Amino acid sequence: MTTDRLKNVRFLTMDGEIIPFGEAKIHPLSKVMKYATSVFDAWRGYWNPEKRELYVFRLREHLIRLLQSAKIYQIPCPYTVDEMVNQTVELIRANEYKEDIHCRVILFVNEIDGGTLSSLPVSTVLAAMPMPHFLKRGPEGVHACVSSWRRISDEDMPPRAKAAANYQNARLVDLEALNNGYDSAIILDRNGKVTEGPAYSMFIVRNGALITPPVTGGILESLTRDTFITLFSEISGGQQVVQREIDRTELYIADEAFFCGSSAEATPILSVDKRQVGDGKMGPITRTLRETYLDLVKGNSSSHRDWLLSIYGR
Ligand SMILES: Cc1ncc(COP(=O)(O)O)c(C=O)c1O
Repeated sequence: MTTDRLKNVRFLTMDGEIIPFGEAKIHPLSKVMKYATSVFDAWRGYWNPEKRELYVFRLREHLIRLLQSAKIYQIPCPYTVDEMVNQTVELIRANEYKEDIHCRVILFVNEIDGGTLSSLPVSTVLAAMPMPHFLKRGPEGVHACVSSWRRISDEDMPPRAKAAANYQNARLVDLEALNNGYDSAIILDRNGKVTEGPAYSMFIVRNGALITPPVTGGILESLTRDTFITLFSEISGGQQVVQREIDRTELYIADEAFFCGSSAEATPILSVDKRQVGDGKMGPITRTLRETYLDLVKGNSSSHRDWLLSIYGR
């Protein structure tokens, strides 16, 4: 079944070749189906109607992260970062997108049958699609709970690698949250410390300090998180983001909290476990960061132009 937003996708790239979207196929006994032997990455492109340009945000860094995920799981990638940058540009151009898009590259072991170990042959799929809305109430904010599920850890299923299998943990978390009437959830590690959301990093604000768990805290090394760390220092005259463990109860008494990610952008968290965060609205630091970020990714800012790749004017 194809969702509405995929109905007008004309092409994707499979094993380096641009093919009609409906012609992409994998065998049901492919190892990726049996054991989820795949890593992936995802990023966004923003259409700027005034400049008539589509800007892809931090593509190279996303592809480097893909190669790092592949290295952790010993799935050899057949392409270099430069080759995948070119494939991305060609695919977006082939689809002639003039709207905001979401892109995804998947690297998977495509052996038919066999056990869990072999890493060959590897197949790749690259897709560019109209933008989905992951969090229904993204801009206004979401009500979150703390999940009863714990985050996978570097000792068993490393969250640093963006592996498809990790998203079974995210799915359990999301299902529980939605079943209990929340929009999303915050996941603790086995020591009870805050990690991230099912597919988002997170920040809290306390007494003017912007705080986020460290990259060794059982999280994906999010590029949006990294972007906000840079932007916060710039807009606050050099004040640094505090990277430290966060307790569950700090979520209840924070002045502001927000999820961030390529999909979530900056999505305010209005309550946690039914305790209102701050005054229950988007806070001033979240708002400033969100606006600065959106200006940047849409190509309306003169700073960090090296983070943007222009698709049509190259
Ligand atoms: C588990 C998880 N954390 C954080 C993020 C945010 O990462 P990024 O900012 O690189 O999109 C994502 C999204 O990819 C994710 O799946």
